[in-house]
Amino acid sequence: MLLIKNIKELIQIEEKPVLYKAGKQMQDLQTLKNAWLLIKNDTIHDFGEMQHLSAEAQKATQTIDAENKMVFPCFCDSHTHIVYAGSREIEYVDKIKGLSYEEIAKRGGGILNSTKRLSQASEEELFQSAWERLEEIKQYGTGAVEIKSGYGLNLQDELKMLRVIKQLKEKSPLNIKSTFLGAHAVPADYKNRQNEYVDLIINEMIPMVASEDLADYIDVFCDKGFFTVEETDRILLAGIKHGLRPKIHANELDFSGGVQVGVKYNALSVDHLEYIGEEEIACLLNSGTMPTVLPGAAFFLGLPYSPVRKMMEAGLPIAMASDYNPGSSPSGNMQLILSFACVNYRMTPEEAINATTINSAYAMDCSETLGSIARGKTANVFITKPIPTYEFMPYAYGSNKVEQVILNGKLQ
Ligand code: NIG
Ligand code: FE
Repeated sequence: MLLIKNIKELIQIEEKPVLYKAGKQMQDLQTLKNAWLLIKNDTIHDFGEMQHLSAEAQKATQTIDAENKMVFPCFCDSHTHIVYAGSREIEYVDKIKGLSYEEIAKRGGGILNSTKRLSQASEEELFQSAWERLEEIKQYGTGAVEIKSGYGLNLQDELKMLRVIKQLKEKSPLNIKSTFLGAHAVPADYKNRQNEYVDLIINEMIPMVASEDLADYIDVFCDKGFFTVEETDRILLAGIKHGLRPKIHANELDFSGGVQVGVKYNALSVDHLEYIGEEEIACLLNSGTMPTVLPGAAFFLGLPYSPVRKMMEAGLPIAMASDYNPGSSPSGNMQLILSFACVNYRMTPEEAINATTINSAYAMDCSETLGSIARGKTANVFITKPIPTYEFMPYAYGSNKVEQVILNGKLQ
């Protein structure tokens, strides 16, 4: 048993765990000052105040003194694309110089740039670079991550990506979920034949992905210039028939109808959501779909910010994730996401912490075991460096406030 004692403040404790927090509940963040936390094997066994240290805790075989430090549940990053080859900083510079999306695409940039590079990379190379990214995000406090395919865009390379994710799942201590995103973009050789590409996804890719049990979820980039609502509808239906729950990209570039089609098929989450009006809000209310905002992509691309306060006031929950990918968000630092949440979306630190822990855990279907400090949950927690308050986490943007990470009860 591992005891963490003298914790300055234990953050996000739950006596009665909930699956997510919506509306006003997002302001609620329970903490315990001067606390202890007892971990048994891979599980949070108990916690309490130092003046009531349990007899069991006193017998712990291993002890960490966390004086002046705080303990948080690890972040759950419910939306990433961290299996990729190469980087796209030249395209980023072109964007700064004012080149349009079309001009960048003409120069060979965009998603298809990553597709070309991925086709030339071996499974081992992809595994190695993704492994390094996992190690990096772990240092910043991430304990669970969803990873998408979508840079393959043909049967062979989509399977290659998903097999890499499968290996990462087997070897990494992070809790990993896998999403098939064949409908990320139309590949170059299907230009002007988008219909045929959608057929290929439905008739060949989805059955293969399902038969090898390579994915937990199905994703479609349902937006202006990418996949239409009708195409999304067909793809999601085919995915569901093969046991894949939808979790889609929607409303990043326009009022695309993506939110509505996601909710229609009981998507676990609809992600991006820069374009959200009354209709989308009404549709999300009373659904099981988690509205997920990706502050890194909006920041990096200079997109309008989602009306997060309006959504919370309407009673919706909000999850936030990094969208770590080479094109629109080349960072998986969830502490930075906390800062963006507060500064750009006017969330309070409490709301931002809920969005990146319990709500993002729901968006990858693991809020029963992760996303808060509750007895019986998996011991995925981090110990901070000495910090004065938990508000310091979003405030001190850019520096790493995490000192030690514990995953499945094991010090990393
Ligand atoms: O989530 N919006 C669509 N897809 C990615 C971008 C991927 C890329 O540019 O490589 C995103 O932002
Ligand atoms: Fe994405």
